[in-house]
Amino acid sequence: MTFRIAQISDTHLSDYKPFFVDNFVRIGEALRKARPDLVLNSGDISLDGASNEADLLAARALHDGLDLPVRYLPGNHDLGDSQDAPAHGEGAIDAMRRARYLSHFGADWWTLDVPGWRLLGVNAQLLGSDLDAAEHQEDDIVKAIASLGRRRLALFLHKPLFDRTADEIAITGRFVNPVPRRLLLMSLGGVVPALVACGHVHQFRETWSDGVHHVWGTSTAFIIPDARQPRYGIKEVGYVEHLLEPDGRHESRLVRVPGVPTLDIAGFPAAYGPI
Ligand SMILES: [Fe+2]
Ligand SMILES: [Fe+2]
Repeated sequence: MTFRIAQISDTHLSDYKPFFVDNFVRIGEALRKARPDLVLNSGDISLDGASNEADLLAARALHDGLDLPVRYLPGNHDLGDSQDAPAHGEGAIDAMRRARYLSHFGADWWTLDVPGWRLLGVNAQLLGSDLDAAEHQEDDIVKAIASLGRRRLALFLHKPLFDRTADEIAITGRFVNPVPRRLLLMSLGGVVPALVACGHVHQFRETWSDGVHHVWGTSTAFIIPDARQPRYGIKEVGYVEHLLEPDGRHESRLVRVPGVPTLDIAGFPAAYGPI
């Protein structure tokens, strides 16, 4: 049986700044009709959970309202950005912010086995951090790979590993930085994931590099204007459907939900300040 994942991302939810809640609710209605086997939020679940716990609470309540099985991965806006990222308004991940995230969303890295596949969810903001949890995560990744058996591997994390190739050297807030990227790939011990899926850029894109299918999940909420962010793929809101076959084949596609507007963050200066 095909395992169907609906990957939502960058929902940026808040009660007191509810700019993106309507889009979430409408996409949620589409998900309830589609009845995927799993809804996976690949991070930036909340508008500003890194500094405002109420946003974590509100975002969790909205997801509970879906009444579907959901797995979560944290984004920079949920528990702070990577310590090695260039400065961002939300500050860097620390033990307190991470603990607060865990109390609302559960484990920030995890595995889930489905027929023919192992899903491995990773906390991208821990990569390259000095928190003890970074080492624990790495140990668990190594264990997950050691017991992979004949399953295909699908890796999920908030940030894209890179733009086009694993040997890029740019230090950015947009991709996993070069050193933690190399360490993460080393911890895979030569296993080549069939699929690497992320969020963070608020664009849908598919690329292939060294046999790996990289899929960027778009946001349910908003896009970032070209003047602020290059156009890598498709700047439209929606979600991504991943179809995983027990024999190891898979496909991924952007799902646009009729009636859900592609909002532009430039129109919401009260969210994160003027663009
Ligand atoms: Fe985001
Ligand atoms: Fe992000």
